[in-house]
Amino acid sequence: MTSRLGARGLTLGYDDARTVVEGLDLEIPDGQVTVIVGPNACGKSTTLRALGRLLKPRGGSVLLDGQELARIPTRRIAQAIGLLPQSPVAPEAITVADLVSRGRQPHQRWWQQWSQEDERAVTEAMARTDVTELADRPVDELSGGQRQRVWIAMALAQETDLLLLDEPTTFLDIAHQVDVLNLVRQLERTVVTVLHDLNQAARYADFLVAMKNGRIVARGRPGDIVTADLVAEVFGLVAVVVPDPVTGSPLVVPGAPVPAPGASPEKEEATPQ
Ligand SMILES: Nc1ncnc2c1ncn2[C@@H]1O[C@H](COP(=O)(O)OP(=O)(O)OP(=O)(O)O)[C@@H](O)[C@H]1O
Ligand SMILES: [Mg+2]
Repeated sequence: MTSRLGARGLTLGYDDARTVVEGLDLEIPDGQVTVIVGPNACGKSTTLRALGRLLKPRGGSVLLDGQELARIPTRRIAQAIGLLPQSPVAPEAITVADLVSRGRQPHQRWWQQWSQEDERAVTEAMARTDVTELADRPVDELSGGQRQRVWIAMALAQETDLLLLDEPTTFLDIAHQVDVLNLVRQLERTVVTVLHDLNQAARYADFLVAMKNGRIVARGRPGDIVTADLVAEVFGLVAVVVPDPVTGSPLVVPGAPVPAPGASPEKEEATPQ
């Protein structure tokens, strides 16, 4: 396995003294889809932001091609790594086409603001994310799912070898979730994405990373690491793990729901006619 992007002893935090991520070692496999899973607030977004140099490490380092990210010029990083944050904020009144076009900024030069290559990348990214028809609409008038697809289009238009996506399927209906995840696989680029849906993570990840309390608890191929014990350890959830009937990847089925208060035993035992 080769790896252009990785973290060594990465320790991360924000303004307060609290350490959010501690001593994290991670090699991102080239050309594969890496999915990070873990409970809320365990440090997934924080880790992704550090991999994209949006957050400066407190300790350790992020390496791109063996060089510390902090020492690489911003423009070179922007040409190599695209990052879609968890809650991006669009400039007011910007249109879809303009926002997607911003993905091309790292490729532009002062003497040539817009090239045919830029136009092609934007048109292609919008088509792949199914937002072409929205091109002239203001982003702040879109539905949550439409807006999310526009952000993904912007990240795709950047055409970087490495793409970091923080919960790209949030707000999407199930068909668009599947579209986006299939698209991510078809890109044949190095992708690191945070997903909340464990079953989607197990289906789409080549390499799965499970985090808890700012540390990596397990990593590997989903089929090798997703077990009822892991789900219990990471999420504190009782579940059974069975083979996905379509793909054979691990399918996590949470334990039975607790009965509603006041539900009578008769009702619980009633069987449909
Ligand atoms: N800008 C910030 N300033 C201070 N603390 C932050 C900031 N962003 C995140 N944190 C804290 O860092 C911890 C990890 O947050 P992070 O966003 O990495 O979690 P996450 O695993 O992505 O969670 P989620 O699944 O909810 O998105 C949390 O305790 C959070 O409150
Ligand atoms: Mg997050």
